[in-house]
Amino acid sequence: MSRRGTVPAARSRGGSGPANQRPGGAAERASAVHISALTKVYGIGDAAVHALRGVDLDIPHGDYVAIMGSSGSGKSTMMNIIGCLDVPTTGHYRLDGIDIGSLDETQLSLVRNRKIGFVFQSFNLLPRTSAFENVELPLVYGGVRGPERRRRALAALELVGLSDRVEHLPNQLSGGQQQRVAVARALVNAPSLILADEPTGNLDTHSSYEVMSLFDRLNALGRTIVVITHEEDIAEHAKRFVRLVDGRIVEDRRLSPVEGLPPKLGAAESNHYPKARAPLAQTQPGTGV
Ligand SMILES: Nc1ncnc2c1ncn2[C@@H]1O[C@H](COP(=O)(O)OP(=O)(O)OP(=O)(O)O)[C@@H](O)[C@H]1O
Ligand SMILES: [Mg+2]
Repeated sequence: MSRRGTVPAARSRGGSGPANQRPGGAAERASAVHISALTKVYGIGDAAVHALRGVDLDIPHGDYVAIMGSSGSGKSTMMNIIGCLDVPTTGHYRLDGIDIGSLDETQLSLVRNRKIGFVFQSFNLLPRTSAFENVELPLVYGGVRGPERRRRALAALELVGLSDRVEHLPNQLSGGQQQRVAVARALVNAPSLILADEPTGNLDTHSSYEVMSLFDRLNALGRTIVVITHEEDIAEHAKRFVRLVDGRIVEDRRLSPVEGLPPKLGAAESNHYPKARAPLAQTQPGTGV
């Protein structure tokens, strides 16, 4: 049984479906995200807005999903529910096998801290706070001790290519660099899932490409990533494309296999190294990120 203040262990899915069972019967790792019949209604009566109208979605670990759809189609609503920032009106949601609907507020905030890394359009970095301190923050909340915190925050900043900007304040960094700090902050806790809501919405073309290349590399290292975007060329980085219209998924198309490299990296690799395959790993060896 889970207790207040602890992240509940993922329970076996038992009779709730075959999605996480191998053909031979051995239990497989639960999906990163499994949502079924999800609805979200804001307001009541004549003022009710049906933001989600019955969404089913399964995202295995290692997937890289782009969610598209016109303004008001329900993308952020879905992202906020997946990120445990909001609750559905009806339906079920399992994150890494954990039944999110059964958690209390304390457990939910622990799940958010340990299992989800957020990246927002507006970066959401603390001003007058160095890149290092911004990245360190989730570890402070997570109770990680000083030296370990420092090691992991520096490793995350190195992974996003900002080892030489550790002491810079957000206003001393370019937009693309600020977003890379935000990505480092999102991944410093080694979350199950990175959620990005229009991460390139405030960036120029070059910085957008840098941030998306970073997501490509993180996915090649085994990270599960969900990106909301309005732009086709951003969505083309993902392995899977999901389109929402008026609160429903109308298209769910796989662009490349979950186990393989993301499309842009795969294409670059086959151009340069036709036979090479990058090993997939959940974390960077020795860094914890
Ligand atoms: N807190 C809220 N209260 C009432 N209605 C809301 C709330 N949040 C969202 N909505 C409504 O729910 C619908 C879906 O909104 P959502 O923010 O999910 O859209 P979106 O696809 O993210 O749009 P955009 O591309 O503009 O960000 C919209 O009609 C919106 O007006
Ligand atoms: Mg939105």
